Amino acid sequence: MTTASDSTVRDPDVLRADMVRALRDQDGITSEPVAAAFAAVPRHRFAPDAPLELAYDLHRTVPVKKDEHGLDISVMSAAHLQAVMLEQADIEPGMRVLEIGSGGYNAALIQELVGGDGAVTTVDIDRDIIDRARLCLDDAGYGQVKTVLADGETGVPDGAPYDRIIVTAAAWVIPTSWISGLTAKGRLVVPLTMCGTTRSIAFDRDDDGLISRSYGLARFVPMQGEGAAEERKAMLRDGVALQTDDVRVPLNAQALNHALDTPRLERWSGAAYELPDELELYLTLNLSSAARLHADKDAVEHGLVEASALYGVPALVSEDSIAYRTRRENEDTGGFESGVIAHGPQAEALAEEYVHVLRRWAQDHRRRGAATFRYLPGAAPTPLPRDAVRRRHGIVTVAWN
Ligand SMILES: C[S@@+](CC[C@H](N)C(=O)[O-])C[C@H]1O[C@@H](n2cnc3c(N)ncnc32)[C@H](O)[C@@H]1O
Repeated sequence: MTTASDSTVRDPDVLRADMVRALRDQDGITSEPVAAAFAAVPRHRFAPDAPLELAYDLHRTVPVKKDEHGLDISVMSAAHLQAVMLEQADIEPGMRVLEIGSGGYNAALIQELVGGDGAVTTVDIDRDIIDRARLCLDDAGYGQVKTVLADGETGVPDGAPYDRIIVTAAAWVIPTSWISGLTAKGRLVVPLTMCGTTRSIAFDRDDDGLISRSYGLARFVPMQGEGAAEERKAMLRDGVALQTDDVRVPLNAQALNHALDTPRLERWSGAAYELPDELELYLTLNLSSAARLHADKDAVEHGLVEASALYGVPALVSEDSIAYRTRRENEDTGGFESGVIAHGPQAEALAEEYVHVLRRWAQDHRRRGAATFRYLPGAAPTPLPRDAVRRRHGIVTVAWN
């Protein structure tokens, strides 16, 4: 828990001041305007049913609505992530801002940032959510924020062009309306999902497309509607699954399940295991045939799959073989060394490629912010370049510095 140290203090103003201090300490808030916005908006008024400590926790989301399987489809996002994205957005007084995915709180923060001369529109696909957001915004004194019920895929043309568009659901596509809906110097901040891993990317307009200025790890509920992800999943066995959005990756559940029963091959890279989120992004985008391997606690405790797969790990897959990252303590240098576990007839070849990619990252790209993303709308070239990720309306390319 990252709220007031004295748990008997339940005054929301005290909890909010503590939250702002902690967000600064943890580099969520890095500017005065964002600090002032977080200090001004009564976060608990947008989570009236949640315990105050949860509402003011830095890293936990507040559940708002679940689907029929009990999975979150709407939450109040964690304060730390909201702060990071607002810093990425670099909002100035007087701007016009569109938020896609509502709840009310983030829109109120944005209203504080744009001030009386600016305009904020927030759109949600779900009537329950937009009605709830409207009530909370009015209750907290943000009646000027405009709420719209629609699929954010089409943007909100009435109000465009926007200086900023901030997306708060995990997006798989970047619809053309988000680009055309921006001013020439406009910025789009979007949690973009690539092969099961999501990064909040701040894109500026660049000719007909977009170029990234910053990115960071993000976790969001999935986008619904027209832009919902085209992901493929394969259940290898109870508690072990693979997912990918790359049509070129073979997902032969039966053969890969069989591979898991064959003896494991272990290879060590000699490279330090550091900056896990940056390494994960590099692996996801540079393995020649990448999927994401997920395993539950049982599968890990039975020794079938390494613990690295508990929260999902980039895997290299072929028709009948699989390799994925693991780590071990490095007794000589301290910290960890990254390595590979591989199974199946092609285990040797897959492990070799995987280790090569681990070493290349460690030698050439081991730092924060090494990737620059470009989004190019329009038909994807064939064959698709190696560094490109295909999307419904265009391609994402990634350059590593
Ligand atoms: C994480 S919540 C938004 C949190 C909110 N911005 C806040 O202030 O904390 C994500 C929201 O995106 C909405 N959503 C999902 N797909 C959408 C779409 N295609 N268009 C608009 N909203 C969408 C969901 O209904 C959900 O309420």
